[in-house]
Amino acid sequence: MPVFIDETRRLFTIHTKHTTYQMTVGKYGHLLHLYYGKKLAFHDAPDSCGSDVEPSEIAPDLRYLLTFYDRGFSGNPYDAGTDRTYSMDALPQEYPCFGTGDYRSTALQIRNADGTASCDLRYKSARILDEKYSIPGMPAIYSDIPREAAAEANADECCRKDCPETDNGGQKKPAQPPAQTLEVILEDKASGVEVTLLYGVLSDSDVITRAARIRNTGADTIYVEKAASCCLDFLYGEFDLIHFHGRHGMERQFSRTPLSHAEQILQSRRGASSHQQNPFFILASNDAGETNGDCYGFQLLYSGNFKGEASVDQYKQTRALLGISDELFSWKLMPGEAFDTPEAALCCSNAGFGALSEEYHRLIRRHVCRGYWRDRRRPVLINSWEAAYFDFDADKLVRIAKQASELGVEMLVLDDGWFGKRDSDTSGLGDWYVNEEKLGSTLKAVSEQVNALGMKFGLWIEPEMVSEDSDLYRAHPDWAFVIPGRKPVRGRDQLVLDFSRKEVVDHILEQICAVISAANVSYIKMDMNRHLSDIYSLTAREQNQGATLHRYVLGVYDFLERLQARFPELLIEGCAGGGGRFDAGMLYYTPQIWCSDNSDAIERLRIQYGTSFGYPISAVGSHVSAVPNHQTGRRTDIVTRGVVAMAGTFGYELDLNLISEEEKEIVRRQIRDYIKYSDLIREGRYFRLSSPMENEEYTAWEFSSEDGAEALLNLIKTGAHCNSPVEYVKLCGLDPNGWYRLTETLSTQNGRGERSAGNKVLEDEQTLYPGSALMAAGLPVPWMNGEYQAWQVYLKRV
Ligand code: GLA
Repeated sequence: MPVFIDETRRLFTIHTKHTTYQMTVGKYGHLLHLYYGKKLAFHDAPDSCGSDVEPSEIAPDLRYLLTFYDRGFSGNPYDAGTDRTYSMDALPQEYPCFGTGDYRSTALQIRNADGTASCDLRYKSARILDEKYSIPGMPAIYSDIPREAAAEANADECCRKDCPETDNGGQKKPAQPPAQTLEVILEDKASGVEVTLLYGVLSDSDVITRAARIRNTGADTIYVEKAASCCLDFLYGEFDLIHFHGRHGMERQFSRTPLSHAEQILQSRRGASSHQQNPFFILASNDAGETNGDCYGFQLLYSGNFKGEASVDQYKQTRALLGISDELFSWKLMPGEAFDTPEAALCCSNAGFGALSEEYHRLIRRHVCRGYWRDRRRPVLINSWEAAYFDFDADKLVRIAKQASELGVEMLVLDDGWFGKRDSDTSGLGDWYVNEEKLGSTLKAVSEQVNALGMKFGLWIEPEMVSEDSDLYRAHPDWAFVIPGRKPVRGRDQLVLDFSRKEVVDHILEQICAVISAANVSYIKMDMNRHLSDIYSLTAREQNQGATLHRYVLGVYDFLERLQARFPELLIEGCAGGGGRFDAGMLYYTPQIWCSDNSDAIERLRIQYGTSFGYPISAVGSHVSAVPNHQTGRRTDIVTRGVVAMAGTFGYELDLNLISEEEKEIVRRQIRDYIKYSDLIREGRYFRLSSPMENEEYTAWEFSSEDGAEALLNLIKTGAHCNSPVEYVKLCGLDPNGWYRLTETLSTQNGRGERSAGNKVLEDEQTLYPGSALMAAGLPVPWMNGEYQAWQVYLKRV
């Protein structure tokens, strides 16, 4: 079993496949953190696995790691009497709270009825549940693995016949649960605040999930002013903080800085997880790289304001916190009420970032994304936005669809502009009825014409927003976030609807469901094109506006949950001005998210590189767009644009009537190739072979099947030089004993495949290359004339 409670020693241990996590109850009842890292082998202990030993006793005991020194200016709990060696300011903790003498940043802050801020949580009880907890109204990692499969997956974990985890014949006991929850309850006797810490573990994942439920068991109303989802204390070690910052059109830029004694904060105050910071970060040992070193991932399943914190304390211990942001937040808890934090997913890798990312990729694909499209190939789509913007009618759309269908595209997405009065971005949001006058047709007729071409039909919506020039705003001005007596901040000429109010969500949902039902809509792109401001909800209880932003996020989740329930086979793609709400919370509702409004293939290298640290390829919306690129003015070959877009859900964002016949032929082949390799791309292992932040010559990545039988190497040349040195690229994830046949797909320049003799790297398709050499010695990169050329090679084990 992965979770153990040892009541006698008051030890709580969690084992995942490759990691161990342990905590204990200190002398005075505080929940102290002991260890999180590489799995500790309890099988090897001389008498730890005997048949008369209970499972709860076979976890290692790491309490010896704690030291108790008399520390000046670090206070001691009153009940420690004259013992000055026990200080909350120095001890590693699971859920530190403000008011205990811990002067570091804490996970919990309460405003008590008397206005004070103290809370002193002590251990009350713990139990193990044979299932993964869920969180009401919020995303949570789940397991849908049947018990028998979980037992099989764990069968190799235990080797000894007399181990209590096996039955008498040495066979694994069949009752292995696919998931478990450790619940630890802490209480503050003075106020009645009770905190349930939730730790979740899945049999097929290395991730440990965390969340907290804060309950008011007292007689007075209190306010939760801060409630992180997790805290992780490290007793020692020097770490780099890796985080993903950005801006609109340039999201998730990799950044690595050494942690210091200054508190580092990553956060969003924008109401959405944001382009500017992502709710995912890594603490890595200074020497960690793609394939080596220790690193810890912190991923929040939440789409609103968040806060990640990391710093080194006075004793060179590191503390990391992640959760909903405490800025603009205050949650009123009346007696008997509870507040649930969002969930955080922690992961530890001792083999660098690559292994860490792979865990998160699997986790999100299998245990976060849900529903009909989770494991299915998504249709290759063409989106009308960069093809037509607001300037279209039914005929133009059908012309775009017709050409696209001839080249193999499988779905037309009608982007912004089909509803209300919407010929620019200054009006119409909120009026979710079809503008038949503009279309010159009904939406049903358009969808039928598209369907007749053998294509699916999709639609863009932006449900959380309202234009002042709209029927909805004229009818319900109080539904928008506007503070009475003030003029609101505009963003893209629009205001934000108060989705914390159920009647607002209900109204918009009904309108949109009516449109989807009336036409044959298979896909929805759910957008959100400005950040929140003027936070004032008319219905917030007793002026408690501190709850509004979180209630807004709950409203968005409720909208998505109900939309999907109404149309279970509808594919929903998330979007917020591109990747402004690209987080694991959204991925619980939308299995893919438009990665960025920047569709320039070269800028996308950095955006998609950063995104790949925390999120799988199956989640990354990526399209081929026109040149010169509409965002940067850069020209790149359509082959290059195709290779970059294939590291995602793949589609087109241009009018394919306007490209040359030669390019059309390439598009045809691109789609065929994408479909051919789509399982490999979507479900395969993903490797970053180089960093666009460091390597100025090329950016390369690879997909390989789990068994190493096939792989797809992708490389974009970013430097161009005269008489340049030869570059090499080392592959990953191949079978070291296997031999591979290599085929260049549609990827080279100079006539797309007809490379001049001197540039040839691959002999011919009959030559076999040893997997071990491809990984250890690599492949020379062919000389390519000019920058931004692409090289894609398919490898098949013979
Ligand atoms: C956002 C999206 C774009 C497009 C426009 C339409 O910017 O990210 O892809 O849908 O809105 O207004």
